[in-house]
Amino acid sequence: ELQPIICPSLLSGDFAFLARDANYMLEQGAECHFVPNLTIGAPVIKSLRKHTKGHLDCHLMVTNPESMIDDFKNAGADGITFHIEATERGDGRSITKEVIHKIKSSGMMCGISVKPNTPIESIFDFVESIDFVLIMTVEPGFGGQSFMTHMMPKVETLRKKYPHLPIQVDGGLDPNTIDAAAKAGANIIVAGSSLFKPGQNPKDTMQLFRDTINK
Ligand code: DX5
Repeated sequence: ELQPIICPSLLSGDFAFLARDANYMLEQGAECHFVPNLTIGAPVIKSLRKHTKGHLDCHLMVTNPESMIDDFKNAGADGITFHIEATERGDGRSITKEVIHKIKSSGMMCGISVKPNTPIESIFDFVESIDFVLIMTVEPGFGGQSFMTHMMPKVETLRKKYPHLPIQVDGGLDPNTIDAAAKAGANIIVAGSSLFKPGQNPKDTMQLFRDTINK
């Protein structure tokens, strides 16, 4: 039975108060050339680790994820998600298997993320070796974007092929889009702006997400 898991995205939090908001926190490691945004790296995880026992999953939106695994591990990360587009290098060179091995052998959980324009078939060869798949429902790099409903067939395809695989979606998830994601088969929800919206109680929104997935 796949449990609903809600992951608050750090990217949408108030960086001056991250320790206050730490929960099942999703770190966003990004650099300019893979995504057009510079966000945060391992030093933030190292600081947060002292303030939370929560699961710190790090979504590395970076060109060379292999170069950052040790830093995030040493900083206290519990998991690393990397992008298939960064390890399948187009010129026939693939380092995906090595990156998975390095993450798993360091004792962390391992996820692979696919950008909107990347076919879901691109990760089929690796599914048996990882803990979950992250299907981006926005172009990675920024919070506050609109949910891409046309990504739902990817979720459905993956769910049909792998009924027991934890499937994570990330980008534009809120009370109006959670239904589509849950119906398609996602069970791990990353949410940023919908959880950190001023005046909203994140716990209520998280519970709505869980209830919708459990329906
Ligand atoms: C986008 C990030 C997401 C984003 C989610 O690159 O990976 O985690 O911060 O934010 P919302 O929920 O506002 O789309």
